[in-house]
Amino acid sequence: MTDSKHDDQRWGTRVGVILAVAGSAVGLGNFLRFPGQAAANGGGAFMIPYFCALLLVGIPIGWAEWTMGRYGGRKGMHSAPTILGVIGKGAAARYLGVIGVLIPLAVSFYYTYIEAWCLGYFWQYLTGGMGIDVAAPVADQTARAAQFYSDFTGRGENGVIAGGSIATFVFWVITFAVNIYLVYRGISKGIEKFVTWAMPIMAICALIVLARVLTLGTPDAANPEQNVINGLGYMWNPNFEALANPQTWLAAAGQIFFSLSVGFGVIINYASYLRKRDDVVLSGLTASSTNELFEVGFGGLITITAAFVFLGTANMIGAVQGGTFGLGFTTLPVVFAHMGAFGNAIGAIFFLMLFLAAITSSISMYQPSLAFFQESLGWSRKNATTLMVSICVGGSFLVMYFSRGGIFWSTIDDWVGTFFIFVLAMVQIICFSWVFGVDRGMREAHHGALIEIPHFYRFIMKYVTPTYLLLVFLAFCWQNLGSWLRAVAEEPLRQGALALIGGVALLLVICTRLGEKRWRAAGLDIDGRHEAE
Ligand code: ALA
Repeated sequence: MTDSKHDDQRWGTRVGVILAVAGSAVGLGNFLRFPGQAAANGGGAFMIPYFCALLLVGIPIGWAEWTMGRYGGRKGMHSAPTILGVIGKGAAARYLGVIGVLIPLAVSFYYTYIEAWCLGYFWQYLTGGMGIDVAAPVADQTARAAQFYSDFTGRGENGVIAGGSIATFVFWVITFAVNIYLVYRGISKGIEKFVTWAMPIMAICALIVLARVLTLGTPDAANPEQNVINGLGYMWNPNFEALANPQTWLAAAGQIFFSLSVGFGVIINYASYLRKRDDVVLSGLTASSTNELFEVGFGGLITITAAFVFLGTANMIGAVQGGTFGLGFTTLPVVFAHMGAFGNAIGAIFFLMLFLAAITSSISMYQPSLAFFQESLGWSRKNATTLMVSICVGGSFLVMYFSRGGIFWSTIDDWVGTFFIFVLAMVQIICFSWVFGVDRGMREAHHGALIEIPHFYRFIMKYVTPTYLLLVFLAFCWQNLGSWLRAVAEEPLRQGALALIGGVALLLVICTRLGEKRWRAAGLDIDGRHEAE
């Protein structure tokens, strides 16, 4: 696939690529989505389906993606359609691989927008906070934070200066420009260089916020039960009855995918810039472990604990039900206001941490489509970037303009950021374990490996992972598909979001078709018919 216009990019160091994949994984999902999911789905008991999904689905599919990506990269391929076409031997796998470009591209439309909120909130805390009066009743404080959130993000109605206030739009422009600049600079000079300082800064911010939260003690002597230990208990005390509910298992699997960026089309692209003998086994495991440290160790201890200590049980139900982002953008501002002298500083550090977590994820969402346009259209990096930026500006503008109730972007999140992830994960594991062959795949994975994958993982990757995925996917469809389709039928904003997804998917299919013609004309073995080990 490599041609004169396709720059031959590589990672500089092993630490660099691990940090880049870990950076892609650690994101808003770790700090906002995970605590809400765990608290709402059995607390400590949630960790049972969560770790089952991690060990049986997340880590194995991650290894498959790392291995397939590196394999494709050796042949000059850097995107899911071309790599899966070769591994999965044919056009069906290639066109299903288009989902691996669609997911990161479409998720970036709203992810970068939410990232801009983090930057905006960071700025707000640097310049004086949110003006929440802690002497007022808790309901008034929460209402003030909710009003700020609504004004800032344009939840009230569509089209208010492209979503929320003009300031929100400016923050988005800055955020988007930084993302594109980093991606355009390239794998080693842009992405790798950035993550090697952004990840440590994010970790330091997380440690500071965690230290503050764990030393809160019992801030209000009049409410002695609102203390750190009870806050941790609220989050982690297990409710084993939740395990009988299929929703708990679905939520756990969905969280693992979203959080690890597995089934996203991202790892397969990042791994394609490795060299033949670069390790993928230990690197994959290290990136996943880093993600778990941030998710369970930081995400699982900070958000809910802090909210409980200041708001108490009575207000927690509403906070958790406020959804993933409600917790971060409407509940935590109330919490920071209660932290006294250092509240604004902690708020600023928290949102800086979130912003860094988000940007190290969003840059990984732009790279796959950039690589795809280069290889399918044979375009230079500059032209491919121009096309990618045009699509993203269009998609993001629609997301920002149709801001009422967050319906438009959450529809993309439901269909692309949840439903299609299951589909792509399934396609990838079948291509790896059944078409390419699990034994061959394992031999490929172990080239240059620094540790060995336990032998029983052959069985897991061939039988257990696909079966587990299929069961979860069927349960997911049974539980959600009907109501989702009804919601689409009733709400024009949801129809618009699906039209956008369909339009982008069509464009990607056309590019794949054009690419096929070029590759075949150049005599390339794009169906992997003559592949030898
Ligand atoms: N893996 C990224 C996150 O958790 C998308 O936010």
